[in-house]
Amino acid sequence: MSDLTLYRWGLFVIMIHQEIRKKFIDFFTSEARSHKEIPSAPLVPENDPTVLFITAGMHPLVPYLMGEPHPLGKRLVDIQKSFRTDDIEEVGDRHHHTFFEMLGNWSLGDYFKKEAIGWSFEFLTDKKWLGLDPGRIYVSVFEGDSDAPRDEESIRAWQEVFQKAGIKANVGDKHKGVTGDSRIFPYPKDKNWWGPAGSTGPCGPDSEMFYDTGLTMHQPEIHGETCHINCDCGRYLEIWNDVFMEFNKKKDGTYEPLKQKNVDTGMGMERMAALTAWLRKLVPEPDPYLTDLFKIARMKLQEISNRDYEESFAKPMRIILDHSRAAVFLMSDGVAPGNKERGYILRRLIRRSIRQGQKLGITRDFLSELAGDFAAIYSPSYPDLKINLPEIKKMLGAEEAKFRKLLDRGLREIEKMPLLDGTIAFDLYQSYGFPPELTFEIASDRGEKIDRSEFEREFTKHQEKSRTAARGIFKGGLQDHSEQTTGLHTSTHLLQQALRQVLGNGVRQKGSHITAERLRFDFSHDKKMTPEEIAETEKLVNSQIKKNLAVNYEVTPIAEAVNRGALTVPGANYPEKVKVYSIGKFSKEVCGGPHVDFTGSLGKFKIVKEEAAGNLNRRIYAILEKEKAS
Ligand code: ALA
Repeated sequence: MSDLTLYRWGLFVIMIHQEIRKKFIDFFTSEARSHKEIPSAPLVPENDPTVLFITAGMHPLVPYLMGEPHPLGKRLVDIQKSFRTDDIEEVGDRHHHTFFEMLGNWSLGDYFKKEAIGWSFEFLTDKKWLGLDPGRIYVSVFEGDSDAPRDEESIRAWQEVFQKAGIKANVGDKHKGVTGDSRIFPYPKDKNWWGPAGSTGPCGPDSEMFYDTGLTMHQPEIHGETCHINCDCGRYLEIWNDVFMEFNKKKDGTYEPLKQKNVDTGMGMERMAALTAWLRKLVPEPDPYLTDLFKIARMKLQEISNRDYEESFAKPMRIILDHSRAAVFLMSDGVAPGNKERGYILRRLIRRSIRQGQKLGITRDFLSELAGDFAAIYSPSYPDLKINLPEIKKMLGAEEAKFRKLLDRGLREIEKMPLLDGTIAFDLYQSYGFPPELTFEIASDRGEKIDRSEFEREFTKHQEKSRTAARGIFKGGLQDHSEQTTGLHTSTHLLQQALRQVLGNGVRQKGSHITAERLRFDFSHDKKMTPEEIAETEKLVNSQIKKNLAVNYEVTPIAEAVNRGALTVPGANYPEKVKVYSIGKFSKEVCGGPHVDFTGSLGKFKIVKEEAAGNLNRRIYAILEKEKAS
């Protein structure tokens, strides 16, 4: 058995995703293109209060897109785990996922459109790499508006590469669809503009690549009069996006040229695996859920439910497979089910899966079984999954049992109600997470009719409220918070070293999270800190602040950093070369930055809370108070 196959449930699974991974990394790291590979950042961003999850590869790289030098240079390549909830309601079709992987190459102020487009085309079409038929590839570009002009440079670059392949590539009109030699289609910002990650920051026009599957699924009554490359019918599969970050969006909403022009590309693993498997005739349709990414979990689900992946069962199965895979990855990156923020989103994924399970007739706990299958498929790429699997299974099992109890309670409540209506359906949904469809079904079994619009009205009212709350989290963008968070980040380094001096060198970082207001630091220590220890730690940090120590970094191989005594986070995945930040002679840590230049700017450090974080770890919340001007 090679790396490219997996034996499970009596079958060999051909691991197309492993082949795609390997080819992508090989292509960009090869001498001619000389990119350096960086590991995927965890789904939960560290030290970034502006987002709940990593939704794209650019998040962890924002400081470098803004000009901070990256330790590995100006050309990077990665396969980034991403998680998005914007399209959660669409999951269940073939093309939407909450969790997905994006293969990307990055230029940090190095090459730009011509090279990026040339390499995308080469990787997609060269027989040595993916070997797709260039005649089936179509592209979109930014059409221009008052903020930025039409992307002529990308148009020229595309025309050149198509011409070399013997293909005429005219600029077409999306309203007319694909006609004659038209192959390059301009679209406005809503389709061909990417970023910023928050409301301000690096962004720019992008150019997307599509593959014409030739499968005609266009229905004018659903998809509009003309089928064009961005049509939702599925004929043209979007496979890769080259983003050209040449602008910085400012607070006032205007755009200025970025001092460094970057490239950020993203190829969706699920789609590329689906397309590849279909073109090799391994699967009857370009459906990600038929590929090796989902195969063994899907077969397990078919066995548990005793249903086939077809007709009315395909949709619930896709939702379960998407959501349970996402849950496994979120849990492996430290999210636990809960009632707030990340924990709540995870809980929703689990509950939605269970509800969809009911549609398949599943009445027993089953999610932890699927977790094992996803760990088997993905652990060659993400070894943490295997290590964390027992804990993930335990959490999934407990959450599932709890929700089944809630469902039972909801059912008992319903039995007591003489007449069901939309408001009751919403209340049950709100308080027990009781699925509204189930209330509707029960009502109809009882011969009652529920006005669904009543439920929807309540639901929309509530959603608007939570959307406003969610927007609050994204508002601001990275830079708005950067001053406060950078200071808190530097303080975190001071805190760790101070704790090691006060409590002993057994103290190691277990987690760190920073908002605009405070830092949170989890560390290994199995006893409650005494008030004296807390006071001493605070004093030590403040004395280092007063000394106005310089903060500097150097780039070294990771092994050398460890040798020289730089602190690392146990279990973290580091690239081969790293930055080591020193704060005077007081602290030395491997870290990506950014940090303040001198500690004197930090203000007064104060620990506001010390508490347990599990059996073996403690957690500290601390703030920086502005020094009063005297
Ligand atoms: N960040 C870009 C995307 O997600 C590549 O499409």
